[in-house]
Amino acid sequence: MTQRTAILSIDGRSIELPILSGTLGPDVIDTRALGHHGLFTYDPGFLSTASCASDISFIDGDQGLLYYRGYPIEQLAEQSDFLEVSYLLLHGELPNEAQKRDFLAKVGKESMLHDQMGKFFQGFRRDSHPMAVMVGVVGAMSAFYRHSSDAFDPVQRQTAGLRLLAKVPTIAAWSYKYNEGEPFMYPQKRLNYAENFLYMMFATPCEEYLPNPILARALDRIFILHADHEQNASSSTVRVAGSSGANPFACIAAGIASLWGPLHGGANEATLKMLEEIGDVSRIGEYIKRAKDKTDSFRLMGFGHRVYKNMDPRAALMRQTCHEVLDELGLNDDPLFKLALELEKIALEDEYFIQKKLYPNVDFYSGIVMRAMGIPNSMFTAIFALARTVGWVAQWQEMISEPEHRIARPRQLYTGAQRRDFVPMEQRG
Ligand code: ACO
Repeated sequence: MTQRTAILSIDGRSIELPILSGTLGPDVIDTRALGHHGLFTYDPGFLSTASCASDISFIDGDQGLLYYRGYPIEQLAEQSDFLEVSYLLLHGELPNEAQKRDFLAKVGKESMLHDQMGKFFQGFRRDSHPMAVMVGVVGAMSAFYRHSSDAFDPVQRQTAGLRLLAKVPTIAAWSYKYNEGEPFMYPQKRLNYAENFLYMMFATPCEEYLPNPILARALDRIFILHADHEQNASSSTVRVAGSSGANPFACIAAGIASLWGPLHGGANEATLKMLEEIGDVSRIGEYIKRAKDKTDSFRLMGFGHRVYKNMDPRAALMRQTCHEVLDELGLNDDPLFKLALELEKIALEDEYFIQKKLYPNVDFYSGIVMRAMGIPNSMFTAIFALARTVGWVAQWQEMISEPEHRIARPRQLYTGAQRRDFVPMEQRG
C-alpha cells in the first residue's frame, strides 16, 4: 500500500508529511521532518499531539472505550484482579497459572521496605500531606535501592519495576500511619494486594484485623481502573523525566508530583472537599450556577475529562461499586452520600453539563467509595498514585527500551523581548 501523506504548503514551498496509522484510533501526521525546514508545530497542552507510539493502553473518548493491552476495562474489572492486570501491563500478555504464582510471590517478597526507610519518615512533620511524603519517600528509594536504578540495564529495570509495584502500597499506608501517630504495620504475604493495603492502613498491633472482602474487592477495582490511562499528564511526566536516563524511582516520584494536581489525580480529594463545602442538598443549585459562571473560577470537581466526551467507562464501573459499598456499609442515607448522588443526578440533567459533555468522572465515584470505607480525603490521591505506579512503570519501560529512544526536548514559540542591550543600574531611572 502506498504511504499516505499530508502536504503542508507554506510560502510557496510544499512539505510532504507521512501519515501513520496505529492499530486503533485516529491516524497521526508525522511532523518530525518539519525541524529540517526550520519549522515546529505549536500545540500547548498537547491537544492534537501524539507524543509517542505505545502498545499499552487505548482510549476512545467519543465511544467511551478503554483497553489495557487490547482487553476492555470492563472485562478486566469484572474477571481479573489487580496483580494479574499489573502483569499484563508490564509484560504485554496475561500470565498463565505458574507465571501468576511466581509474580505474586515476587511482589510479596519485595513488599517490605528497607528498615532505614522507616526512619526516613520521621523527618516529616506529623501533619504532612501523604502525597508530600510519597513524593519524598518514593524519590528516596533511589538512595536505598541503588542496584536497581540503572535505567539502561534491562535486568535492573525489571527489578525496579517490581520493587515499585510491591513497595509503594507500604509507603502509602505508612504515610497515613505516620499522620495518625500509629505504629507502622508490616505487609502480610498471606493477604492479597488490596487486603494487604487495608491491613497496613487500618490494623494495629493490639487487635486482630480481618479485611472485609467486599471492601477489598472494591479497592482492587479502584486499583484496576486507575492502573493506566495512556499519555495523561503524570504518565507523560514520567516519560519526559525518564527520557534523560534518570533513575526509575526519581521518575515515578515526578509522576506522583504531577498526579497531585487538582485537575488530575487530586480531583477525588477535591470532590469530597467540594461536597463538604456544599454541605446540603438545598445548596446544590447555587454551586451549579457558580460552575456555569464564566467570571467564577469554581468548577464542579469530579466532572469532565479531557479525553472522554462520553461517559468514562471507568466511571460506570465505579458507580456500580459505589452502590455496592454504600449498601454493604448501610450508608445510603448518610447526608454526604445522599448529597453526592443528588448532585450527580442534577448535573446529568442540566443543559450546560449535557452540552459540554461533562459527565461524572471516575474520581467522583472513587472519592465517595474511599470515604465510605473510612479512608481520609488526604489519602485519596495517594491511593490513585499507588494504583497508577504500575502504569507509570510500564510507560517508562516502554519509553526507555524504544530502539529510537531520544531525550524529550520540546521546542517553543518565543514571545519574549527582542534582543536588547544591558542597561547599567545608574541609567535605569
Ligand atoms: N465544571 C464546570 N465547567 C467545566 C468543568 C467542570 N468540572 N469542566 C470543564 N468545564 C467547562 C469549561 O469551563 C469549558 O467551558 P467553555 O467551553 O465555555 O470555555 C469547557 O467545559 C471545556 O473545558 P476545558 O477546561 O477546556 O476542558 P479540558 O479538557 O481542558 O479539561 C478537565 C478537562 C481538566 C478534567 C476539566 O473538565 C476539569 O477541570 N474538571 C474538574 C477536575 C476533575 O474532575 N479532574 C479529574 C480528571 S479525571 C482524572 O484525572 C482521572
